[in-house]
Amino acid sequence: MQIVSPSLLAANFANLEKDIEMINQSNADWLHLDVMDGVFVPNISFGFPVLEAVAKICRKPLDVHLMIVRPEKFVKEVAALGAMMMNVHYEACVHLNRVIHEIHEAGMKAGVTLNPSTPVCLLEDVIRDVDMVLLMTVNPGFGGQKFIEHSLDKVRQLRDMIQRTGSKALIEVDGGVNKTTAVQLAEAGTDVLVAGSYVFGADNPFERIDYLKNL
Ligand code: DX5
Ligand code: ZN
Repeated sequence: MQIVSPSLLAANFANLEKDIEMINQSNADWLHLDVMDGVFVPNISFGFPVLEAVAKICRKPLDVHLMIVRPEKFVKEVAALGAMMMNVHYEACVHLNRVIHEIHEAGMKAGVTLNPSTPVCLLEDVIRDVDMVLLMTVNPGFGGQKFIEHSLDKVRQLRDMIQRTGSKALIEVDGGVNKTTAVQLAEAGTDVLVAGSYVFGADNPFERIDYLKNL
């Protein structure tokens, strides 16, 4: 069984209410929210006014993925949404240990995210403190990109590190998750699958969510 966190980035932004109602009625576990600033990644998605509107109508726990520089500036704002998980990028945080503790103090679970080029071994000194590691399986910034195969090795390396250290961290993957890659990822040892276009681009998104859950 996998935890499924559909990414709202692939929803219809002209009718978010309809897509969020679909998520509410589905077997999805969480809703994944991708915030981009046009600096950390070469794209801009949505910000707090949109997140607040989404939080009001979404009944699933919010899995917030900040693709922004200096994410520590927004711990309070993310907590005020009632978010369950705040994911910050390793590459965006000079004082990652401090940020993780600030996220916990604000009452949220803390996730640390790695870009495809950032090695898993760099997590050695935070792995016991985080609730989740989010491995990017594409370069962040856009939906609908091709899965990077090397990510499967990173999932295995991370699974080994978690076992060796007794960490309780979940392994989440994000980018290019589809019918085929999801099977490979689950076999490699993931706990949480994020899927944007695979879910929202489907005629029957309920079926796709169930498929991912049952891997
Ligand atoms: C990419 C985002 C992803 C994106 C995934 O920067 O972090 O969450 O929505 O989209 P798909 O599943 O279409 O690759
Ligand atoms: Zn994401």
